[in-house]
Amino acid sequence: MNDLAGRDLLSSLDFTPEEVRGLLAFAHDIKHGRVRPALAGKVATLLFFNPSVRTRVSCESALARFGGTGITLAAGKDTWNFECREGVVMDGGTQEHVRELAPVLSRMGHFVGIRKSELITVGLDPAASGASYAELAKDEFLQRFTEFAEVPVINLESNRWHPLQGLADAMTIQEKLAEPRGKKYVLTWTWHPKALPVATPHSQLMAAADLGMRVTLLHPDGFGLEPEVVRRARARAEAQGGSLEESDDIAAAMKGAHVVCAKEWGALALYGRPEEERRQKEALRQTWIVDADKLRQTDDAFFLHCLPVRRNVVVADAVLNSQRSVVVQQAENRLWTAAAVFGALAAR
Ligand code: CP
Repeated sequence: MNDLAGRDLLSSLDFTPEEVRGLLAFAHDIKHGRVRPALAGKVATLLFFNPSVRTRVSCESALARFGGTGITLAAGKDTWNFECREGVVMDGGTQEHVRELAPVLSRMGHFVGIRKSELITVGLDPAASGASYAELAKDEFLQRFTEFAEVPVINLESNRWHPLQGLADAMTIQEKLAEPRGKKYVLTWTWHPKALPVATPHSQLMAAADLGMRVTLLHPDGFGLEPEVVRRARARAEAQGGSLEESDDIAAAMKGAHVVCAKEWGALALYGRPEEERRQKEALRQTWIVDADKLRQTDDAFFLHCLPVRRNVVVADAVLNSQRSVVVQQAENRLWTAAAVFGALAAR
């Protein structure tokens, strides 16, 4: 495997496709007991500004299984409120600046993981209300924290990326298809009552691209992903012998698909304005759900979703309960890919 020791993992573009492949091979080896990541005595501080099941448990479990420790903090509940802007007179709601926080946590542990996605908490988080995608996509807290950190920082989901999810998806695709290169992968938008972040689909798109798949990004008009991310994914897919096309034609996309990955995400133009988005997408509800009929049109595709999933809203029971669904295997692979990431980034 390439030497990733000491590196940060902030986005699904941080590692080359070759580095990703090495990391995935490491994850498969860990899963099958062929190697153990050197995590004995290693400590990760895991800072969560948003709820989580899989990300938190997979990281804590990965560390615990191999002799390390994860210390999870619910930001703002277990902690002070943090500031990351420069020159702020901190006489309001924030008590600690990343200029102190990042080096302090760096000296107490070997990694810091951060989950901070304003859109997840839109409605609760005043910072997210009315904020544009362009503003939120800067992932300001994560970037500022990393600037002052002295240990590897791992993005546990931000506004723009969820790299650990992308790795788990890629590992699952490799397990199911053996050689994914040239196989057809469909990432389909689905209706959802809320406006959810684009971080996960961005990383899922990049994962399929890095595997050299024939990627179809399927979404209704107005619900595309960030154009720059799509451009980078297309370039990476083509460099690996694959391709990427965008479509709003569900039947054409499903035809011949080997993998269908469903994800709900918000319209970039309506970020921070969930009520407006809800009105605009209401008519899409009946059409943009993954059901058994759609899966029947594929080439026996298996079905992915990052979870949590709203049954019979995003995906029909008949799909989730079928043999084609590998969502639990996909979630399990969060554990093995997290172990690989901590193991690879650990300083020797
Ligand atoms: N898929 C995922 O990141 O799950 P959690 O939000 O539960 O961590």
